[in-house]
Amino acid sequence: MELQETKTGEYTLYIPSMDETYHSRNGAISESRHVFLQEGLDRIEGNIQVLEVGFGTGLNALLAAQYAKENKTKIYFHTLEPFQVPFDLVEKIGYGQLLGDEELFSKLHAAEWETNVKISENFTLHKTTQKLEYVRLENNKYDCIFFDAFAPKKQPELWSSEIFRKLYQATKTGGVLTTYSAAGQLKRDLIAAGYTIENPPGANGKREMTVAIK
Ligand SMILES: C[S@@+](CC[C@H](N)C(=O)[O-])C[C@H]1O[C@@H](n2cnc3c(N)ncnc32)[C@H](O)[C@@H]1O
Repeated sequence: MELQETKTGEYTLYIPSMDETYHSRNGAISESRHVFLQEGLDRIEGNIQVLEVGFGTGLNALLAAQYAKENKTKIYFHTLEPFQVPFDLVEKIGYGQLLGDEELFSKLHAAEWETNVKISENFTLHKTTQKLEYVRLENNKYDCIFFDAFAPKKQPELWSSEIFRKLYQATKTGGVLTTYSAAGQLKRDLIAAGYTIENPPGANGKREMTVAIK
């Protein structure tokens, strides 16, 4: 894993063996805000139960924690991450400093795994090392699923119809699954699982992304 600069000047992580980055090369923060906050959290009223696929650098978690404070709502953030980012890279990536809250960013990374940790008045974090394929999820629990796996071509096993059926069961009625991808097979699998889909414009000028509504 190595740091890679995006077009907007902040860093993301790059995995040479997969030729894959953790965020859009055209802008990491703008992508996270657009796909997961604007097209995800903004669609939900009141307190929000989030499930995230891939904690990674913690950027989505940091933005969600800031969102909860700004919007005076409470977020429970359950995030899956079987492959932790080494701490020296987390420190170098500097999202805490860039987003004006180093203490919050450190707390998210330092939080104990496999248990609920109250990070702030508005934000409770539960990090688990379990893989999406094997984790057991409660039915009808989540208002918003941040589906932030590596791209379908890079990690196809996470974009299977079986996975989307499982996530549909775990989504509350009225809840949403949001992702940067707009692949045709993804859309067909989400519809087959029972979701209704929308394809708003994607982040950083991308033509479309996908929001699936239960
Ligand atoms: C695109 S990155 C996520 C970026 C992250 N949301 C962030 O804000 O930095 C995809 C993440 O999925 C994780 N991942 C890989 N295999 C997984 C699996 N089987 N289940 C859940 N997460 C997985 C990777 O380790 C990686 O952190």
